[in-house]
Amino acid sequence: MTRVLVTGGSGDFGRACVKHLVEAGWDVIAVDQRGEEVTGGRFVRADLTNLGNVVEVMNYIDWQYSGGVDAIVHLGAIPAPGITTSSATFDNNIRATHNVFLAAKLNGIKRVVWASSETTLGIPFDIPPSQVPIDESVPARPESTYAMVKALEEQMAAHFCRWDPELTMIGLRFSNIIHEEGYAEFPGFDEDTAIRRWNLWGYVDARDAAQAVERALTVDRTGTDVYIIAAADTVSARPNRELLDAQFPGVPAVRDVGEHDTLLSIDNARRDLGYEPRHSWRHNRTDA
Ligand SMILES: NC(=O)c1ccc[n+]([C@@H]2O[C@H](COP(=O)([O-])OP(=O)(O)OC[C@H]3O[C@@H](n4cnc5c(N)ncnc54)[C@H](O)[C@@H]3O)[C@@H](O)[C@H]2O)c1
Repeated sequence: MTRVLVTGGSGDFGRACVKHLVEAGWDVIAVDQRGEEVTGGRFVRADLTNLGNVVEVMNYIDWQYSGGVDAIVHLGAIPAPGITTSSATFDNNIRATHNVFLAAKLNGIKRVVWASSETTLGIPFDIPPSQVPIDESVPARPESTYAMVKALEEQMAAHFCRWDPELTMIGLRFSNIIHEEGYAEFPGFDEDTAIRRWNLWGYVDARDAAQAVERALTVDRTGTDVYIIAAADTVSARPNRELLDAQFPGVPAVRDVGEHDTLLSIDNARRDLGYEPRHSWRHNRTDA
């Protein structure tokens, strides 16, 4: 059994991710500054902005575990722009992530998977995207402090990997993470093509986001890369051509975008990680 530390384990996605990893047979230790326990795993309360705390939780906690961890999944963050001040978002998120990256290095942990974000792509697209589908080849264009920190973290990971060629650091640029219960509101998005223009009508089922985490934990490679993680389709019953003509006329399609195919490209995640979304709001069932 491989032991993995999940930061932000009490969070909305953290809980789904812990559940997935426990069910897949991982020995999970969740760390968060709030919450008390996680199903099937162990829980440690700690503030990620304190380097000492982060070094300790990767090593040993009295009566809970010793012997360190094999891999890190770093999800702990203030999870969106506008929740608090820009400076509080910056201070918490960049400090937490630097501490996690540095503590992994100090503890000799060679695998780090962390939550980046679709916001690095230019959300809310007040300036239209340069192409659809948008993919990782398009330079990051953060439009908020939250997104800027995510972009900086991607650069930080590149330097950590340059310093240590044995390290693997995979950033997952999650689209809007949705739980099954959230699908009930999707038909309402079709009232106006503008409602979900802000992220190119993207989403990802929490179970598929967790699948991506596990694939990033196990993919056989070193170095760093970032991957867009989205569902295979959009949130809309309207065809892509109608959505794009209404909201982004003139934005070039670099390939066929299909009737409802995601406009946040998951081609690289499919190719490199073997990621394949299994859930869609459209039929709300699990594909084989
Ligand atoms: N939810 C989405 O749609 C979405 C989309 C893209 C990226 N992300 C990223 O995914 C990750 C998880 O998001 P979420 O939706 O579960 O958010 P969430 O707010 O539900 O969970 C984040 C958790 O991190 C913890 N945390 C924050 N700062 C901490 C600190 N200093 N020390 C210890 N714990 C701390 C919080 O207590 C919280 O439980 C975040 O990094 C977020 O930026 C989320």
